Amino acid sequence: MSKNTKSTLKANNTEQDHNTSDKLWDGRFSQPTDAFVEAFTASVSFDQRLYRHDIMGSKAHAAMLSKIGVLTESECQTIISGLDEITADIESGNFSWSIKLEDVHMNIEARLTDKIGDTGKKLHTGRSRNDQVATDIRLYLRDEIDAVVAELKRLQLGILSLAELEADTIMPGFTHLQTAQPVTFGHHLLAWCEMLFRDVARFQDCRARVNIMPLGAAALAGTSYPIDRAYTAELLGFDAVTENSLDAVSDRDFVIEFVSAASILMMHLSRYSEELILWSSAQFNFVELSDSFCTGSSIMPQKKNPDVPELVRGKTGRVQGHLVCLLTLMKGQPLAYNKDNQEDKEPLFDTIDTIKSCLKVYADMMPNIAVNRDAMRLAAAQGYSTATDLADYLVRKGMPFRDAHSVVGKSVAYGIEQQKDLSELSLKELQNFSDMISDDVFDVLTLEGSVAARDHIGGTAPKQVIAAIKRAHTKL
Ligand code: ARG
Repeated sequence: MSKNTKSTLKANNTEQDHNTSDKLWDGRFSQPTDAFVEAFTASVSFDQRLYRHDIMGSKAHAAMLSKIGVLTESECQTIISGLDEITADIESGNFSWSIKLEDVHMNIEARLTDKIGDTGKKLHTGRSRNDQVATDIRLYLRDEIDAVVAELKRLQLGILSLAELEADTIMPGFTHLQTAQPVTFGHHLLAWCEMLFRDVARFQDCRARVNIMPLGAAALAGTSYPIDRAYTAELLGFDAVTENSLDAVSDRDFVIEFVSAASILMMHLSRYSEELILWSSAQFNFVELSDSFCTGSSIMPQKKNPDVPELVRGKTGRVQGHLVCLLTLMKGQPLAYNKDNQEDKEPLFDTIDTIKSCLKVYADMMPNIAVNRDAMRLAAAQGYSTATDLADYLVRKGMPFRDAHSVVGKSVAYGIEQQKDLSELSLKELQNFSDMISDDVFDVLTLEGSVAARDHIGGTAPKQVIAAIKRAHTKL
């Protein structure tokens, strides 16, 4: 949302005196709302974040009403300038939000009538807050998805730059967190980048279903005015209009879908975090995060803690919690709109804030990761990571793979006993396990030979990493 909504929130709105009470709906009521209930049912403290999109929707609605002759051209102009003034008031902090007016929609509508008089009362013709709020959330979310995707791409670019520098840096690849086979660090980073490509695709896919216009569904059944929904949709940049008015005002599956994509993104960021935390420990010592992204301990002077990845890992929980919250919110609701739906906003807003800040801090941190290539190489050299290469070598010499597996297993056991890596055993020692081994074996036992041999699309060879980085740039 705009940074400058410093507007105040008032329980008692003394400035506005457009009605005997402040309510826009109390014609049939003979008693005032209980003060606590008023606060309990109000959403303006959090939905004021939608003001820009609410006003955008109202301007398009007014233009459509004028096109079909429900408003005169001059009434429409008066409404539009009134709404523009309200935008300026909100953004300069001159708007007092009132909980008596419940939500962002009625605060803005009431203020409009204060400003322009009775014409303001005509804006809500052929519309309900039910289709209005659904429209606002979709307009707002559409913008936020674009912002999230832009930040995701910035993070991907950071990962690709580091991957390019580390295309032939050798590190141990792990399965079960045990050293498995040598890989290049560039290749490992490209794995992160691939996950993010799928996240981008999920958000873009979600956007296609967000960008459908509910306006015109009115309260639940549509409206008796001869509205031109296609015209309003075009003004607002929607791809289409909703097909069914009951569905349009009631479903929030597009919010659930977004938060679901956000949960998967956070799961990915949490996995990167876990790796960065492990790697920056003294035990791994593969990377060092810059001082500006770490904090110290108040008692242990030697500590430099990877707080940023830890917090990102921690924040994953709240986004996943929001997903469960929203699924549960929807599951019991009969058609059409129910007030339950007002509870969609806080989890959605917090999800957006959380993923945007996590993406920002990660994109900023990427170029500030120092790589300890020696420690990575040493770790790869120590874990018998080329054992599979020796087995493949024997297979190429004619041995069935299962037999080769067993021969290499015995060589590894011998190496452990001698405290030597396979590449440190002499040819004579190796030949004790198979006479098919000759002196060309050392080409495959080196770490460089091992990674260079995985030379196909998706493989870890430095040459393939460079090619994959090029393809990734093209996709971005
Ligand atoms: N503040 C409400 C919400 O967020 C707006 C719609 C209210 N509609 C109603 N009929 N009370 O859902």
